Amino acid sequence: MNIIRSRLSTTDSVFKKRQLHYQNLMSELRERRSQYGQWGAKQKTRHESKGKLLPRDRIELLLDPGSPFLEVGDLAGDGLYEGLPPGAGLITGIGQVSGVTCMIIANDSPVKGGTYYGMTAKKHVRAQKIAWEHRLPNITLVDSGGANLPEQPDIFPDVGQYGSVFNQIVRQSAEGIPQISVVHGACTAGGTYVPVLCDVTVIVREQGYLHLGGPEITFAATGEKVDRETLGGAEMHGSTSGVIDYLAENDWHALSMVRDIVKDTCRREKYQRPVESPVLPRYDPAEIYGIVSDDPKIPTDMREVLARMVDDSRFDEFKSNYGPTLLCGFAHLNGFEVGILANNGVLFSDSSLKAVHFIDLCCKRNIPLLFMADNSGYMVGREAEHRGISKDGAKMVTAMASANVPKYNIIVGKSYGAGHLGMCSRPFEPRFSFGWPNGKSALLGPEQAAMTLSMVQKQKYERDNKIWTEEQDAAFRKPIFDEFEKFANMSNYAANLWIDSILDPVETSDTMGLLLDMAAREPKKETAFGVLRM
Ligand code: COA
Repeated sequence: MNIIRSRLSTTDSVFKKRQLHYQNLMSELRERRSQYGQWGAKQKTRHESKGKLLPRDRIELLLDPGSPFLEVGDLAGDGLYEGLPPGAGLITGIGQVSGVTCMIIANDSPVKGGTYYGMTAKKHVRAQKIAWEHRLPNITLVDSGGANLPEQPDIFPDVGQYGSVFNQIVRQSAEGIPQISVVHGACTAGGTYVPVLCDVTVIVREQGYLHLGGPEITFAATGEKVDRETLGGAEMHGSTSGVIDYLAENDWHALSMVRDIVKDTCRREKYQRPVESPVLPRYDPAEIYGIVSDDPKIPTDMREVLARMVDDSRFDEFKSNYGPTLLCGFAHLNGFEVGILANNGVLFSDSSLKAVHFIDLCCKRNIPLLFMADNSGYMVGREAEHRGISKDGAKMVTAMASANVPKYNIIVGKSYGAGHLGMCSRPFEPRFSFGWPNGKSALLGPEQAAMTLSMVQKQKYERDNKIWTEEQDAAFRKPIFDEFEKFANMSNYAANLWIDSILDPVETSDTMGLLLDMAAREPKKETAFGVLRM
């Protein structure tokens, strides 16, 4: 395998300028993340005063000591709901419980009673999907008022909303993927089906309660007066209704019961492909901050980035002199082999064809694919069209979409239009999709979008024999540019769950190591390619 030899000078003024720019991006990201901790002192104190653990403390107690917790969707809903911190009132992530990798889903009850907003439902469904694809046990820590009623259109009628949570519990259970839950607090109305559909359920005495209609609804519907504990308390469900399987004395006891259930009933699969000992890159990953371009017109040198990401800086580059705007090669991340496709400019016919060949090789060899997107799209213009860029780009999309190996997408720079799709972005259902803080993605770049719409406007004016002045043009373009710029930001993508999270470039290899560890335990699947247009 080839070692990438870096030509970077860390004393260079460009390096220093880019590094400073990136450090600012990282500070902004840290600031966004810190909002969660700073939020809701009153709500958190009120929660604890009931003798309950805070949701994050529950997760910490559940996890094995020292286990990483890879949080998914931590920035979901950020800025979308007035007065809510990032996270949409739900905490989801992957960690080890009794030595088994599990998906943990916990209602963040101090946030509006843990009720479900549109983004909460979307995040729950997404976490379940990750668990399903990797066959991870789901552990759901319930403490929620169920549907947030004014959010009805975004949580009730459609697929991918709250109802899909129930559907996915049942279907995963049917496939033998363990579904375990704890009722720590409120569990009401439709939300009762979350723990009740699970394989096994624990409830906390005098804290957890579960009913289809609370005391008020019961009175309104039947005229019967009944207190909450009699109606749906833990004691009653453990002894009278038989709805619940295990009765715990408090949060601590409930979580230790779950750890025992996982130990006794779940197991971790063995590796299905060779795994090497991890080796650090030969160059400092923190230098990536000074390598990533801070100018959209100048591409990032992805070889320099990879030299700081992959084990021992070894990158076995495939067709290194052909189709040079897309780097393809084999490498290891934290000991796990991966096929990397990284943009190094615009996608041309030759780079697209190289991608097809490389993806086919990875499928035959059962090697996961990592797509690192930094392109402004597929090449346009007469020459490119005559060479058949649309059919070569289509071949790349066909190969990428067909590939039946674990696929990952990271937006490490620009990711626009069809080029965004071609690099296995969210619509192609990669196992995970992430962005780096500098990442940008949209249908078109802000300048191109403003120019396209202004040309359409100008043509309309000309048809009506009206004059389209330069001043009008500038005033017309500015808001379009600003809107596209704002849309393209990774914070917007993370808030809307179009990516799973924003990754620090320095931590990207470790994160990928955790994900590839899960993938390495899956048996090989065959790939059937869609028709490749020749
Ligand atoms: N829809 C919309 N908002 C809701 C809500 C719901 N179903 N349930 C609670 N909220 C809001 C409250 O209005 C309050 O808002 P505020 O912070 O702006 O004052 C916030 O969530 C917290 O509720 P609060 O009752 O103060 O907290 P709590 O910890 O004492 O109790 C619940 C939380 C969820 C147990 C309690 O609010 C409750 O029982 N809600 C009704 C649940 C229900 O019947 N859902 C039916 C779904 S179909």
